[in-house]
Formats: sequence, C-alpha cells, structure tokens
Amino acid sequence: MRITPPSPFPSTSSRIHELSPEEQILFAQLDPTRMPRHVAIIMDGNGRWAGKRALKRFLGHQQGAESVQFVVETASRIDLPFLTLYAFSLENNLRRPKAEVSFLMKLLKSYLVGNVKRMNDNNVRMNYIGRTQELPAEVQDTMQWAMESTVKNTGTVLTLALNYGARSEVVDATRAILANLIAEAHQRGCSLEDLLQVDGLDARIDEEHITAHLYTANMPDPDLVIRTSGEQRISNFLLWQIAYAEIFITDRLWPDFRGAHLLEALQAFQSRDRRFGGLNDAPSDEVQPDENLATLEPADQVAEEIEGQLNGRAPAISRR
Ligand code: FPP
Repeated sequence: MRITPPSPFPSTSSRIHELSPEEQILFAQLDPTRMPRHVAIIMDGNGRWAGKRALKRFLGHQQGAESVQFVVETASRIDLPFLTLYAFSLENNLRRPKAEVSFLMKLLKSYLVGNVKRMNDNNVRMNYIGRTQELPAEVQDTMQWAMESTVKNTGTVLTLALNYGARSEVVDATRAILANLIAEAHQRGCSLEDLLQVDGLDARIDEEHITAHLYTANMPDPDLVIRTSGEQRISNFLLWQIAYAEIFITDRLWPDFRGAHLLEALQAFQSRDRRFGGLNDAPSDEVQPDENLATLEPADQVAEEIEGQLNGRAPAISRR
C-alpha cells in the first residue's frame, strides 16, 4: 500500500464556535501564539476501563474508539495541524491474544467505514504510520479507501500508528538509506565504498537523513505527548521524534478521555518552559548566544576558580 505523505502545513479556518461550552471556556484560557503543531497520544486503559465495570476487554476498546472521534473533532475545531494516535503497536500485534487482535482489526475497519463522512465534515485527513503492509489485506484496503476519501482535506492530519514500533521505524529508515545508497552506487557504476569516499559518510548519514526516512518524514516532531491511564512510560512510541516533546500523563483512562481533556493537556503544555537544551530565560549577562567555544576558559581553570571561591581564597569567577 502506498501512503502519500501529508503536507506539513495544513490550512486553517476558525471553528471555535463548534466547541462545547466547556471546551470554549478552556480554549479561551489558551495562548493562541503558543499552540502545539503536533500532539501525539498513547491511548491506554481500555482494558482497565472495561474491568472496572466487569465488562469484557473488547467493550473497552469499543468505547475507546468513541473517544478517538470526540478527540479528533475537538482537535480539528481548534485547528491542531497534526494529531497522532497510537492505536496498535507491533507489540500488541505479537503479544495479545489472537481474538483481541482480530477484534481490534475489525474495530479499526468499522471505525474507518463509520467515520469517513465525519472526517470529511471536519476537514480531517487520514494518514497512517507503521508496518501497515503486515496488516490483513482487507484492513489495508479500508485504510487505503479512507485515506483516499479524505486526501483533499486541508485541516487536521490524523495519523493512526498501526502495527507501529519506534525501533522498527529506525530499522526501516536505516534499511531505506542503505538501499538508496546501493542503488545510487549501481547507477553511477561504482562500489558503495567508492561512493561514500566521494562525499564522506558524514554528508550521507546525518540527523536530517534519518528524519527524512522515518514514517513521519513530512510531519513536524510532536510538541506534546499525552499518555492516559497513569502509566509513566513511552512504550516504543515515536522515540526519535519526541526528543524535545513535553510529556503529559493523566490518570484518566482512554475511554473517559474527551476534547476538554485534550484542552487541559494543552494548558499544561503552555505552562511548561521549553528550552530544547538551551537557557530560554537566563539573564542576558549570563547567556552569550554567539559565544565561541574557542574563547571559553579551560575547564580545569574554571574548576580551580570555583574551588578557590568555595574555600574563600579566590576572587569571583571572571566574566567575559
Ligand atoms: C490500550 O488499552 C489500547 C490499545 C491497545 C489499543 C487502542 C485502541 C483503541 C483506542 C480503539 C480503537 C482505535 C481506533 C483508531 C479505532 P489496553 O487494552 O492496553 O488497556 P489496559 O492497559 O487497561 O489493559
């Protein structure tokens, strides 16, 4: 199955009036200039939700599919450009009972068939990541149909991670890079070794190349990862892409999660100080953006000054 990458910049139009009154109050408290471009959600707790009600696990998944549509529609109303949902991991595929896997596949199919019209009404475009080629053929057909049926939409890109594992994604990207290099060497009539000697390995494989070969190549990295059901782990989800994402964990189980809870997570996101490894709010006399490494004092000299200062026998550390 061929998946067309989505445009990185979906267009926007205001549909805030379509939010529920509760959502409108929460939305009004958000800073429109600090909205995330991409939110990724680990939807967890379907089984526990069912267990608490003495129901079968599959009813938890069914209720979870309802939550998916509520959250997608709120995301589209607030013009969130990208929403990615972890719907089915490689590990789920390998380690869950066959009956549960086959129920999840049926649920996915009926979700897509039942919601494509609503996706179109909400200008949502369907996209998928994962080893989707390993899913049952009839599920792939429905996925393809849903994607094609929404391909013209310009609002939120809804990406379902299906048969997805972040480590496998990196393996697939590495294999693709290598295959492309081998093909290029063939085309030029030289060996791979000769090809790599022309530009050097650094020019051929860097962070940009790896990013460009991931399933998410045409999407911005997630700004926020939400996990429901209180578990504090990432579970092999978008490991490369979430290097600088904020993480929001809620005890709420996925079948109880609604658009209002998405907006609460956005409030928490906006309260964070994102630094990307830098020092956003440090006073200007301490931060010298164009500081050159070559002009820094040697570490042992600084260490000596600090030690002297601690022992009260040296002047304050010199500032340049
Ligand atoms: C985790 O709950 C959730 C999943 C394994 C699958 C997620 C599936 C859905 C939300 C429904 C279907 C989705 C779509 C897009 C139609 P769990 O079973 O691990 O819960 P537990 O940890 O409480 O047992």
